Amino acid sequence: MKNSKPLVLMTYELPENWMGDLLNQFNVIKGLPDQRGLDKNLIIHLDQVEGILCLLDDPLPGNLLKKAPKLKVVSTMAVGVDNIDVSTCTRLGIPVGHTPGVLTEGTADLTVALLLAVCRQLFTASKDARQGHWTNWDPTGWLGVDLKNSTVGIVGLGKIGTAVGERLKGFGANIIFTNRSPLPEKISSLNAKQVSLDELLKTSDFICLHTPLTEKTINLIDEKEFQKMKPSAILINAARGPVVNTSALLRALKNGQIRAAGLDVTDPEPLPPDHPLFELDNCLITPHIGSATIQTRKTMALMAIENLKAGIMGTQLPFCVNPEIYQ
Ligand code: DGY
Repeated sequence: MKNSKPLVLMTYELPENWMGDLLNQFNVIKGLPDQRGLDKNLIIHLDQVEGILCLLDDPLPGNLLKKAPKLKVVSTMAVGVDNIDVSTCTRLGIPVGHTPGVLTEGTADLTVALLLAVCRQLFTASKDARQGHWTNWDPTGWLGVDLKNSTVGIVGLGKIGTAVGERLKGFGANIIFTNRSPLPEKISSLNAKQVSLDELLKTSDFICLHTPLTEKTINLIDEKEFQKMKPSAILINAARGPVVNTSALLRALKNGQIRAAGLDVTDPEPLPPDHPLFELDNCLITPHIGSATIQTRKTMALMAIENLKAGIMGTQLPFCVNPEIYQ
């Protein structure tokens, strides 16, 4: 039967009350559960599709996008767009929508949760208690480090980096940061100093990564960066896995080159359960849950659908990554 509604490919399943009127307005074809990217069932519809709704781990390379001559919009339920060939979209005049702002607070909360959990050894302490190793009050057991008067280095003082800085300032930490450009007003609001990456790595007790993944930030933290860190340093990555070189991180954690790491993102992602990082007591890994609160995820879904609808209707996306296509 011919359906005249615009065709939308959706790579994932969402709760019904997160989808607004998506299913009424469009002919939506969903990807197979547990398959990432445009699977075989979706690819066969590329010649007819007008909108694609995707997630951050769905690769959308230029060669696929070029096979969709009717495509009017790509909308991701994420702020990061490193999985999408945005420059090809821009060349083809296709707007790319994302969900900025809404996940700032949730991701900042998770970053601080991870940092506290790692610096106070919560995971190991809880595991030991469960396993019967809590035999007495041990004056030297499960010792952590203080946040007060420590130096926290934030790599990338965007919205999330700033929100993390504000929270950690409340714990009495001194904040330093790196950023692509100088940020005088943020320096004063956080009472934070902008420094070089070199200085940040050498002087920070905690290093929090909040940079987007770009060609310039792949492996930003590699062997030689670990060599510059204090042996007591704790690294937190809630940005994108490939910002850190995984093999170098593994060596640094095993050799005591740094004290510990908290990772909400990894490379690869998901990290296979038999990965050696999972064997380390000084590495706490969560499965990319920075934005995982009910309110945030629902808002992200609704924003992604708003972007999709605008794109199909031919109006400017409310949250557009490449607004230059409208000029
Ligand atoms: C994003 O939206 O890019 C975040 O990584 C999701 O938590």
